[in-house]
Amino acid sequence: MKVIKQVFQLHGDERGQLVALEEFKEIPFRIKRVYYVYNTQKGVIRGCHAHKFLQQVLICIHGSCKIRLDNGQEKRVIFLEKPYEGLYVSNAIWREMFDFSPDAVLLVLASELYDESDYIKNYDEFLDYTKSLNLSE
Ligand code: TYD
Repeated sequence: MKVIKQVFQLHGDERGQLVALEEFKEIPFRIKRVYYVYNTQKGVIRGCHAHKFLQQVLICIHGSCKIRLDNGQEKRVIFLEKPYEGLYVSNAIWREMFDFSPDAVLLVLASELYDESDYIKNYDEFLDYTKSLNLSE
């Protein structure tokens, strides 16, 4: 599965911590969009879709949350709880974000502008899509 949890370099000193992220360095793509979710209510599951092309890096910069990832063959749950950890998620991965702590702020760096047509929101369609990708490989 094309997902990588990475630990970013800390530029800390006696004043506190700082994390710097640059495209094509810590982030393996051109960053075209940034968004973040916060104030997520108890029991909520977000995401529940895949993307045809979009790549993302998810960073829980405050609090914690879990990310369920599924490439159509394999499922995995990743716990994000450190502001210096990022989770790279390639295209064609079904993702669900859940178990947000009340103080969670989930920052997302994205390789594309917002494009509704890049979304696959139906799980069966997603499975068909992954099968068609595997056939063409
Ligand atoms: P949604 O796709 O439901 O978020 P999530 O995948 O985290 O559950 O997005 C919520 C709303 O925000 C929806 O109306 C679309 C809008 N939105 C944008 O306008 N731009 C964006 O970059 C994103 C991610 C969402």
